[in-house]
Amino acid sequence: MSTQKIIVAIDGYSSCGKSTLAKELATKLKYSYIDSGAMYRAITLYFLRNHVDFSDHSKVLDAIANINISFVYNEQTQNSDIHLNDENVAPYIRDMIISEKVSEVAAIREVRSFAVAQQKRMGRKKGIVMDGRDIGTAVFPDAELKIFMTADPEVRVMRRFKEMYETNPHITIDEVRHNLELRDYIDSTREESPLHRADDAILLDNSGLTKEEQLKIVLNWVTEKITPTPKGATPQY
Ligand code: CDP
Repeated sequence: MSTQKIIVAIDGYSSCGKSTLAKELATKLKYSYIDSGAMYRAITLYFLRNHVDFSDHSKVLDAIANINISFVYNEQTQNSDIHLNDENVAPYIRDMIISEKVSEVAAIREVRSFAVAQQKRMGRKKGIVMDGRDIGTAVFPDAELKIFMTADPEVRVMRRFKEMYETNPHITIDEVRHNLELRDYIDSTREESPLHRADDAILLDNSGLTKEEQLKIVLNWVTEKITPTPKGATPQY
């Protein structure tokens, strides 16, 4: 693969497999992978632990001034863990209590400015795959490759249910469905950078695709971006 590095922006609805694809793609390309949703989840964890009143903008600003977020590579899992003020909070941010509040927190303008500024800095040198809701529209509007992922809502519910059931056997399918519907609604209708497909984003519906199939398709798109297809040649996907 070429040494030219690009930015890959992956956006889409809750639980449509963005992180899985983004992580595998970054590994293949030897790029860094940033899960922007994990940042909003870590901020939500801080707010809940410290009883920050989200409706009060000055309290939100004070709280943000005390938050430091970093991604630290974990040799054992070969993944990056998110650290909140030097504590590895990866084990806590996927809990339902966080999922229930994260979209409310992510809709706050001050929270978004804080997270987006850090995300933009992470992409300065390119060679990055980032997934989220506003990556192709607000964080990296000039990303070379933008993908908008979607999947059938019931497929998404079952995928997330299976994932959450591993750590919480009391979770119900209805709870998961309700949370995904609520987050998709808040994320798509908020005032600040709502979730929507950028005009130049390629749509990827992975309802019927295996992880291997979706990775292959996207690797072809990356290759095309790095080495433009000569006129008249057939793209390979
Ligand atoms: O894993 P899942 O798709 O369920 O969600 P996530 O990527 O962990 O994101 C959690 C929440 O953070 C989303 O529902 C959004 O409210 C928010 N988010 C956002 O507003 N902007 C982003 N770039 C990423 C996440």
